[in-house]
Amino acid sequence: MLDANEFLEFLKSRRDVRRYDFLDKPIEGDKLQMILKAAISAPSVGYSQPWKFVIIEDENIKNEIYKNFEVENEKAKKIFAKSELYKNLKLEGIKESPLNIAVLYEESDEAVLGMTSMKNMGEYSVVCAVQNMWLMARTLGIALGWVSILDEEKLLESIKADKKDKLIAYLCLGYVERFKDEPELKTLNWRDEKSLDECVRYIR
Ligand SMILES: Cc1cc2nc3c(=O)[nH]c(=O)nc-3n(C[C@H](O)[C@H](O)[C@H](O)COP(=O)(O)O)c2cc1C
Repeated sequence: MLDANEFLEFLKSRRDVRRYDFLDKPIEGDKLQMILKAAISAPSVGYSQPWKFVIIEDENIKNEIYKNFEVENEKAKKIFAKSELYKNLKLEGIKESPLNIAVLYEESDEAVLGMTSMKNMGEYSVVCAVQNMWLMARTLGIALGWVSILDEEKLLESIKADKKDKLIAYLCLGYVERFKDEPELKTLNWRDEKSLDECVRYIR
């Protein structure tokens, strides 16, 4: 059995990585398989397993997706115009990481148990798969960065997704020298860490 304290320490050691520190080292096939197996071990509403994974190594496609990011990030820079910090943040590792994975949600044609009232549960299931990937990657010493500053429609076109697919996550994976101890946005004082008390309310 896992020790709960050790497990919590492990969870805290997971990091979003997107700095320039991806090493020029490919991810082995068996490790990628482990990450994907972790993904499909996630819970899903009505056991619908509505996930799809597109593995992207092609430099041309990566460049196209990087351009998509650049356009969207220019818009974001305007929104955060007052912040000197935002301009200097590194918010993706599309080209530097050896492997990108687009995680997609495939809507079911049939009614799904558990989704009859709350329509977003399929998408939330895919997010559970992403978290499993993140944790398995961390176990294998592989860094993962989630990029969401992207035009979804353009991205889906770039990867030739099916019409019905929705983008849930765009992930950049690779080896790094070391994992930082704290979230970068915390270290840079972009946001403070919330205490447990700030997040929890009891109804007794
Ligand atoms: C749904 C989601 C989208 C995210 N999108 C981005 C992104 O576009 N760019 C980025 O640099 N980090 C992104 N992140 C990473 C967060 O900034 C990061 O998880 C947070 O700052 C906490 O740091 P940690 O993951 O290292 O603990 C995203 C994280 C999540 C969960």
